[in-house]
Amino acid sequence: MGADFSYNATIPDNPHTDENETVSFVKEPNVIEVKAYRDTWGRGLDSYLSWFYETVVILYESLADNGSIYIHLDYNIGHYAKAIIDEVFGRENFKNEISWKRTSAHANVTARYGNVHDVIFYYTKSENFTWNQQYVPYSQEYIDTFFDQADENGRRYARRDLTAGMDRASKGQKYTWRGITPTGSRCWVYTKDKMDALDADGKIHWPKKVGGMPRLKLYPEDLPGIPVQDLWSDFSQLHNLAAERVGYPTQKPEALLERILKVSSNENDLILDCFGGSGTTAVAAEKLNRRWITCDLGRFAINTSRKRLLSIPDVKPFIVQNLGKYERQAWQAAEFGGEKKAAAMVSQYRRFILDLYRARPIEGYNWLHGIKGGRMVHVGSVDSPISPNDVTQIAIEFKKAMGTGEDAPSITAVDVLGWDFAFELNEVATQQAAQAGIAVKFVRIPREILEKKAVEQGDIKFFELAALSVDIHKKSKEVILTLKDFIIPPDDVPAEVQKAITHWSQWIDYWAVDWDNKDDTFHNMWQTYRTRQDKTLKLKGSHAYEESGEYTVMVKVIDILGNDTTKALKVTVP
Ligand SMILES: C[S@@+](CC[C@H](N)C(=O)[O-])C[C@H]1O[C@@H](n2cnc3c(N)ncnc32)[C@H](O)[C@@H]1O
Repeated sequence: MGADFSYNATIPDNPHTDENETVSFVKEPNVIEVKAYRDTWGRGLDSYLSWFYETVVILYESLADNGSIYIHLDYNIGHYAKAIIDEVFGRENFKNEISWKRTSAHANVTARYGNVHDVIFYYTKSENFTWNQQYVPYSQEYIDTFFDQADENGRRYARRDLTAGMDRASKGQKYTWRGITPTGSRCWVYTKDKMDALDADGKIHWPKKVGGMPRLKLYPEDLPGIPVQDLWSDFSQLHNLAAERVGYPTQKPEALLERILKVSSNENDLILDCFGGSGTTAVAAEKLNRRWITCDLGRFAINTSRKRLLSIPDVKPFIVQNLGKYERQAWQAAEFGGEKKAAAMVSQYRRFILDLYRARPIEGYNWLHGIKGGRMVHVGSVDSPISPNDVTQIAIEFKKAMGTGEDAPSITAVDVLGWDFAFELNEVATQQAAQAGIAVKFVRIPREILEKKAVEQGDIKFFELAALSVDIHKKSKEVILTLKDFIIPPDDVPAEVQKAITHWSQWIDYWAVDWDNKDDTFHNMWQTYRTRQDKTLKLKGSHAYEESGEYTVMVKVIDILGNDTTKALKVTVP
């Protein structure tokens, strides 16, 4: 991904043609991402450092008292950043500046040295922290130098003194063994029995000289290896063909995160990576049985992480949350709040949205707020998703509004505008509305509205929710789902992409099913996606239930732009 949040998305091939031409396009950053970029880099280093300071303070406050933090930075910025981290964490809590050699030598550098490393600052919050010593294997050079003896099988070993100072040994270690007694204040390291056992095992090195001091044979495999130092060159940036690669340009090797997590955390500890990118930290944490939280500002990052986590066998259920709510509440208060009462603020907010939607505000209703071309309009609140219950209320009020006065709807239709929609909504709500004889259109309020510039430029477009059509088929206790159609709103999709897509399934990146949803988190019980070996997407999925009963099946489709669309279906298993 570009530093400005643009990224390359790929359009999969049409499964019904022989053409194998993978088309990709650059997904431009959205307004929120442009704003984030401006906040951090807008005034160059200055703005970056003040953003960095605020971020480090938040991280310090969130970190457990016995926690550790690793901050990975480009060599360009590292030394400025260190002064800030010192101030927040305290210099005494600075542990290491790790140099990570991320690439091999560059051949094309002129008039300066090739830059092959990044820095990782390691701090703890206090003197009480987790440290699990890790080791790396000895290099051949080290073995050749320090393991200078060879046994009868040619295995290399080093010799270690078998005597110790009397002060460090327990009583009973001063004795004569094989005719030799340690001199002065020295004694044997082990008891007599242990020495006999080592000798019987061939673990004692006897010098050629008669009466020479025996020593312990130490083989490389008897030792843990070299304790990890602050120069890490044993794993480098992923090359283009690495199996781990998920198509995220700044993806880090899992081994790098694995080392950090093993050293500074234990099983069940909680790990946070707030600049998660492709999710490497979460993946490493999941595999090492740590609990994790990861976040990222980019939709592509979240999509990539989710897909990657789902491909870990037996991944534990996790939730993806959109924190836009807080941002929207802050925006609403700043734009329409001030000294006003809450009701006045909300009413002004609704007028603003209606205006952009080109609807006329109406008064006197709780659930109906405007009218456009004869259709009623509902404006969803900033802090909760539109739910089936909202739709019920809208339908009840709609009946009352019919045929009463100048604001009466001339068509039995409602446009429900919302920031978010409860995931069971499509199916249930549309059914409810249809029963009441009302045609409901669900329309997403575009995030661009939060940006003054975009509003002033007048290029705000509203789009209907993506629509997913699924067929359900039963064969005794087996339920078979088939995707039949998927329509995505043309929201920020470049025209050339729309042209390149000739079959609806090309919009789908992958899809997943929760076969037994209990109105809670989506549990990913099954998923399917294209792989390097098999480039076609399966459109059928099935599940054999063990018990009869009523189940809610939740189908989640993730499109190539990283949006998800969910549909709930009820099945009765005989
Ligand atoms: C260098 S990448 C992390 C790569 C990651 N370690 C991996 O293995 O894929 C940094 C990430 O931080 C995200 N980011 C940048 N500014 C952010 C912000 N203010 N809040 C949250 N995420 C942000 C970017 O979207 C980007 O994905």
